[in-house]
Amino acid sequence: MKNTSDFLVVGSGIAGLSYALTVAEHGQVSLITKREISATATRLAQGGIAAVATAKDSFAQHIQDTMEAGAWLPDKEIVRMVVENGPSAIEDLINWGVSFSRKQDQSYDLTREGGHSQRRIYHAKDETGKEIERALVEAVRAHPNIALYDNHVAVDLITEAKVTRRRSKSNRCLGVYVLNRETGQVDIFNASITVLATGGAGKVYLYTCNPDIATGDGIAMAYRAGATIANMEFMQFHPTTLYHAHAESFLISEAVRGEGGILKRRDGTAFMRSYHPLKDLAPRDIVARAIDHEMKVYGDDCVFLDISHKTEDYIKDRFPHIYETCLSYGIDMLKDPIPVVPAAHYLCGGIKIDSWGATDINNLFAIGEVSCSGLHGANRLASNSLLEGVVFAKRAAESSLVLAQQAILPCPGIEPWDTGSAKDSDEEVVVAHNWDEIRLCMCNYVGIVRSDKRLVRALRRVRMIQEEIADYYWDFLITSDLIELRNIATVAELIIRCALSRKESRGLHYNIDHLETDDIHWKQDTLIRKTF
Ligand code: SIN
Repeated sequence: MKNTSDFLVVGSGIAGLSYALTVAEHGQVSLITKREISATATRLAQGGIAAVATAKDSFAQHIQDTMEAGAWLPDKEIVRMVVENGPSAIEDLINWGVSFSRKQDQSYDLTREGGHSQRRIYHAKDETGKEIERALVEAVRAHPNIALYDNHVAVDLITEAKVTRRRSKSNRCLGVYVLNRETGQVDIFNASITVLATGGAGKVYLYTCNPDIATGDGIAMAYRAGATIANMEFMQFHPTTLYHAHAESFLISEAVRGEGGILKRRDGTAFMRSYHPLKDLAPRDIVARAIDHEMKVYGDDCVFLDISHKTEDYIKDRFPHIYETCLSYGIDMLKDPIPVVPAAHYLCGGIKIDSWGATDINNLFAIGEVSCSGLHGANRLASNSLLEGVVFAKRAAESSLVLAQQAILPCPGIEPWDTGSAKDSDEEVVVAHNWDEIRLCMCNYVGIVRSDKRLVRALRRVRMIQEEIADYYWDFLITSDLIELRNIATVAELIIRCALSRKESRGLHYNIDHLETDDIHWKQDTLIRKTF
């Protein structure tokens, strides 16, 4: 099958949906998503979306907080642009039907999270992402110009270089090969503009609070097609996910600390004052490292987050989802401190984009977590990512509308996906085993605290697995699991290579062999591009 549209969007989180809704006023949109439309990281976001909202706050303070959390690596002009667009991004979301929590006097109930000097986070109780996803999905489903293809997995970008088998300085994206999970067929989705909004890559790690879809697909595809990838060493570990044998890395929002929650050792001693003047509200990299250190020093499997000093009414009203979920695991946060551990949460690096969301492949945009816009630098400030998703979706839409009006260059014939002599696999165990091996290796060797030796060891392991995957990939008919395995292996390789090249510690990248922050040589992005 061949599908043709003006705009092709891959991914259905906040960035992809916002982009689709904006360009759909001007052309036909195909939106593909690899599972059910709402199976996204956006849906799981608890905390909220940051934007300056009160006279006490200012753009200058939000910019300062973002720069400081990002260990001075963010691009200040990008930070300024995103922060200044914050209030209008909130307005867009409200116009699309998102309902944020309000106080009794009907003003918005702004919360705080780590690294924020002011209350500036709009939220919908403790399920902000669920509310945003609900409203945007409803709007997308109702739009006559948007065709939705769920259970469709992007396999590879189709580029002019691939089609003509000629590499030149400028390459152009023509669409995507897409696996229809129901038919098993690989179809061609052809479009004037392609937008990757595929989210992050937490599944590269064994412990993550990301959903199953977070396998770095967009980054891996863009890398294979020749796009520049940046800052992959900066994987953010959320300091507090629930530690329980049966809980699949359930997030305990940073807003719990924003509203007074205190991190404690098993014996009840609060420990964050020994690590940072902002104590429990220090930037995330510092809190996650402090917890990692505490667990190692005391030999404990977790630390504890205590908000039991707040009233029952307050906790049940402000954190209903967290309260109910903890209770379902036998933890009553009204009385008990919650056992927590850090887990992979947000990738600050990704496909390098300009201030309009454009990649260095023509007609290919990347927005949201899949991209590296320069906003987060070495460590994302909490609740800046939903904001980034909306702001860059709007800018990419604006820029794509201009591009789409330009005369379309003749498009060479795109060949159907070639399965060659591939057959059905009778060895799914190989895929499952390699998945587990990569994720465990990344957790043990490329986690919160790194060393050169462990990084080299990790790269060796991942490369061996990649060789095995390459054999397997062309011998057997592709499945969704195999596509994702190939992608997590690529993303793991990119994370390790970036980590190995950065010879300093900064933000989320902490290497015991290079403890100093080196502003002279390393106040710059780590860039990687495939050589052909
Ligand atoms: C949280 O609720 O702690 C997550 C917010 C974020 O990662 O921005």
